[in-house]
Amino acid sequence: MPISHLVERFGTPTYVYDESKILDCVGDLRRFDVIRYAQKACSNIAILDLMRRHGVLVDAVSAGEIHRALTAGYTAGSQPPAIVYTADIFDHDAIRLVVEYGLHVNVGSPDMIDQLGEVAPGTNITLRINPGFGHGHSQKTNTGGEHSKHGIWHTQLEECLRRADHHGLGVTGLHMHIGSGCDLEHLAQVCAAMENAAMTAGRGVVSISAGGGLPIPYRPGETRVGLDGYFQLWDATRQRLENAFGHAVTLEIEPGRYLVAESGYLLAEIRAVKQTGDNLFYLLDAGFNNLARPILYGAYHPMSVAPRDGDARRRLQDVVVGGPLCESGDIFTQEEGGYVVRRQLPAATVGDWLVIECAGAYGFVMSSNYNAKPLAAEVLVRQGAANLIRARQTYADLMRGECIPE
Ligand code: LLP
Repeated sequence: MPISHLVERFGTPTYVYDESKILDCVGDLRRFDVIRYAQKACSNIAILDLMRRHGVLVDAVSAGEIHRALTAGYTAGSQPPAIVYTADIFDHDAIRLVVEYGLHVNVGSPDMIDQLGEVAPGTNITLRINPGFGHGHSQKTNTGGEHSKHGIWHTQLEECLRRADHHGLGVTGLHMHIGSGCDLEHLAQVCAAMENAAMTAGRGVVSISAGGGLPIPYRPGETRVGLDGYFQLWDATRQRLENAFGHAVTLEIEPGRYLVAESGYLLAEIRAVKQTGDNLFYLLDAGFNNLARPILYGAYHPMSVAPRDGDARRRLQDVVVGGPLCESGDIFTQEEGGYVVRRQLPAATVGDWLVIECAGAYGFVMSSNYNAKPLAAEVLVRQGAANLIRARQTYADLMRGECIPE
């Protein structure tokens, strides 16, 4: 679909998602018994509705995400549970909703067992285990080990089983989100830790979850994860547990990024082209208020220039790409630690468009109103037609709820 059409209809900055890409990615993971979408990656209700209609279940990490799942048509009470609440705490709204809808909980800290046990004794839970080691694409995203706040520390499993038993809670699932990606050696350690934990928890366990963390190729030259090896390791773990327990064990996977990252594009307009010493800057009307991954993690996103005049033969040049915010770190081409780097892109002038790719996961959902910038619009392309799935925020939206005291 020509960018000029999208921009004419929806303006910039705008997130555009390609439905067919999402469905291809869902298709890749069908061999798992349950694909549970980690909606934190992109929680627009149109995306959730799409997942639901294609048999993908959902994870919710907050009361807000529970509301989103319910609004998108997920219903509680089915088996395996359509909605699972996965978090390290219950806030008051979340525990109220969990009880009201009878949602399955993936418990991330011992206190949650007591809190749930007090209000919903007799229900079944999953325990999220921190096996004592982790993995992540940056220091800030490492999900295991003693510096991670996530999950129940592996040596406390037995104590947690006793606590659950005390409250009459049945431990029917175990979960580890370590994000080993395609590092199969590391993954083998995770699977071994899962097997160990499951043997400790015993025959009540009917489901294991591999968590999320499947990587996608962001940089040129990065290859796609080998799903065969990934699945085989988990499947073998599941089979050993089935043999030990004498009953079926469901294997879940909980990806966010893998399902939506590559479907998403952030469309922006180049509003200034300026030179400072050796650096040539393209300054966009989108900033880290729209896409925070570069400033947070030094994340790399592919970019392309869409010239307004359609000229595809412009010469390449090294540029720094930044946003509009009054903050020096508002740079899309940076590495972890905040080091500004250059990217080779076609020559461009004010009014050309710049497209930031692989932005469907942790893009819109991590955006903010910093510098009083309205949140971007979101558009879903379905069978060649562009559908607005979230209107751009208005300036009235921006100040909604604020008031000046008498
Ligand atoms: N399950 C749990 C318990 C998680 O904490 C996460 C991600 C996922 C599944 C999905 O992980 P994925 O498949 O999307 O990698 N905002 C960061 C990543 C932090 C992810 C937090 N948890 C980013 O922009 O890369």
